Amino acid sequence: MSLKDKIITEKLPLHIAVIMDGNGRWAQKQGQVRVFGHQNGVKAVRDTTEAAAEIGIKFLTLYAFSTENWNRPREEVDALMELLIHTINQEKETLNKNNIRLQAIGDLQSLPGNCYNELQEAIAETAKNTRMTLILALSYSSKWELTNAMRQLAKQVEEGKIKAEKIDEQMIASNLNTAGIPDPELLIRTSGEHRISNFLLWQIAYAELYFTDKLWPEFGKEDLYEALIDYQNRERRFGLVSEQLPK
Ligand code: IPE
Ligand code: IPE
Ligand code: MG
Repeated sequence: MSLKDKIITEKLPLHIAVIMDGNGRWAQKQGQVRVFGHQNGVKAVRDTTEAAAEIGIKFLTLYAFSTENWNRPREEVDALMELLIHTINQEKETLNKNNIRLQAIGDLQSLPGNCYNELQEAIAETAKNTRMTLILALSYSSKWELTNAMRQLAKQVEEGKIKAEKIDEQMIASNLNTAGIPDPELLIRTSGEHRISNFLLWQIAYAELYFTDKLWPEFGKEDLYEALIDYQNRERRFGLVSEQLPK
């Protein structure tokens, strides 16, 4: 029985989020510069996206560049932006062919102009696709997103549009970049690091966390299947006790 056959299609998460980490270390292991690792990470993005869509995942969020990543050496940031432009441009056709819609979360305005334009073009050109939504987190950090949400809500209170005591979880969620997107049930991080690095803090409140030592460029379809099987063997209790859960 192949790994893929072990996945129970009725028990799939709606949304998988991935912290794609370890490109630099992968490159170093081959005696190459860090950028080489980022270039090779693109294949893992392609394979993971394809596998997720094939299995029937509806939302896949990939953490591609964090707010903090702007502080990396200038050459690495420039190379990442170039790679991003090139990849989005190249993959647009495949996304359409596979009926995948592209979206993005993060401070998109802070991206270089050509990168922003390429991204918006791809988002517009894939907007009608329905099989899966691929969400790129770009110049994203959860604290940035939450700060913005709080500002927006405070402004509405200030303008008398809402009452402070009426603010509820739903209202907060709808002021995040991920408004309308269900929370991820499964969060995967590669490279052996066991941290969240400012990613979707609100949204992963009850996500199952899956860590693998594989470096991102090594991650492939089989690794996604393994993560899904692991997820399906967990008991998600949401604060209840086992006996209260539906059989
Ligand atoms: C993840 O790989 C990609 C980005 C953060 C853009 P890294 O570049 O963080 O690789 P490591 O963690 O240094 O190996
Ligand atoms: C997290 O990876 C951000 C992305 C994968 C885009 P980092 O490599 O930036 O995280 P830290 O700095 O090791 O926590
Ligand atoms: Mg890293």
